[in-house]
Amino acid sequence: MALILLLFAALAGFAQEPHRCAACHEESVADFKSHKHASSGMDCGICHGPSEKHRTSVGNIPPDQVAAPAEVSKLCGNCHLAEKQQYESSAHGRVYGSGKKVKTANCNTCHGNHAVRPLARQAANCQRCHTALPASCKATPLSVNPRVACMSCHARHTLAVSSR
Ligand code: HEC
Ligand code: HEC
Ligand code: HEC
Ligand code: HEC
Ligand code: HEC
Ligand code: HEC
Repeated sequence: MALILLLFAALAGFAQEPHRCAACHEESVADFKSHKHASSGMDCGICHGPSEKHRTSVGNIPPDQVAAPAEVSKLCGNCHLAEKQQYESSAHGRVYGSGKKVKTANCNTCHGNHAVRPLARQAANCQRCHTALPASCKATPLSVNPRVACMSCHARHTLAVSSR
């Protein structure tokens, strides 16, 4: 009997179609459906666990997994190892190891939690935290291509400046 229950629990865990969460998280589900993650066959459970008790408790019991900011790169790095390594070697990633109490850019700060974030929003996103930029960042006027201006000099994940 216990074995059957266990098996059932395991099956319930695998059957994590996003629509099972939609009753309460319509927006997350809609965002997620627009992402390559959804078209690649991933579901909510890959990052949040089956969360069966959460789902049936009207949210009174927390989901099985919610990555804390310092754990996000590890979660994403399960599948995006190169990006994880580049990020963790960058000034953004090093903040977590340094013990500094400042807000840093994380995978989901730039990419959003579920939806694909358009590049047009990246530069504005950077300037939430980087209000005063050194003169060298303005060598090429941002007006040339404001959508990708920061990343036309800074590598997307290491932030290294390439010689143009
Ligand atoms: C690729 C991993 C990933 C998948 C797949 C994923 N999430 Fe998330 N989700 C995250 C991350 C990362 C956060 C932010 C956690 C934090 O606060 O640090 C988050 C946050 C949330 C939040 C709270 C904040 C917000 O953005 O609304 C909800 C609700 C949520 N997810 C629901 C869902 C649902 C429902 C699905 C399936 C349709 C889903 N998630 C699929 C990674 C994922
Ligand atoms: C019956 C309603 C309901 C269902 C169904 C539901 N949730 Fe939630 N969920 C909530 C409530 C309520 C909260 C807490 C309020 C908030 O943060 O928006 C929440 C919060 C969350 C969070 C954020 C937790 C945090 O610490 O920030 C995540 C992630 C999440 N749900 C994932 C899921 C996933 C995955 C499913 C499907 C397996 C699901 N939920 C199904 C009601 C629900
Ligand atoms: C279970 C594996 C898995 C996990 C975990 C995962 N991803 Fe992905 N990711 C994929 C796959 C598969 C693709 C689609 C690859 C393709 O089609 O080129 C993808 C694509 C992407 C893309 C490109 C989207 C596009 O439109 O080109 C971004 C950005 C991304 N993931 C960010 C993240 C972030 C941020 C996290 C953590 C919150 C994460 N991924 C967690 C598997 C994963
Ligand atoms: C400072 C902002 C920033 C952070 C932090 C960040 N990314 Fe990115 N990422 C970008 C930009 C910008 C692109 C290029 C987007 C495009 O071309 O549409 C990108 C592209 C990607 C892609 C698509 C493949 C590629 O290289 O073009 C994946 C996958 C990805 N990021 C995953 C991650 C993961 C995983 C993390 C955390 C370990 C992360 N990113 C952290 C800004 C960021
Ligand atoms: C949530 C806040 C936040 C956001 C958003 C953010 N950053 Fe940062 N950034 C930081 C912090 C914190 C540091 C580390 C500062 C330090 O080391 O004292 C940093 C450092 C940097 C550095 C310095 C690199 C070095 O080696 O010294 C560059 C370049 C940079 N960020 C570019 C960007 C770009 C480009 C974006 C947008 C794609 C961005 N940042 C978005 C917080 C942020
Ligand atoms: C024309 C190339 C170029 C562009 C475009 C550019 N940067 Fe820079 N950035 C540099 C160079 C070169 C340095 C290192 C030299 C220095 O600190 O003066 C740098 C350094 C930085 C630093 C570290 C500052 C410090 O005090 O250590 C941050 C943060 C930064 N850039 C953010 C940004 C952001 C955010 C954008 C987009 C709004 C951006 N950069 C666009 C070339 C550029």
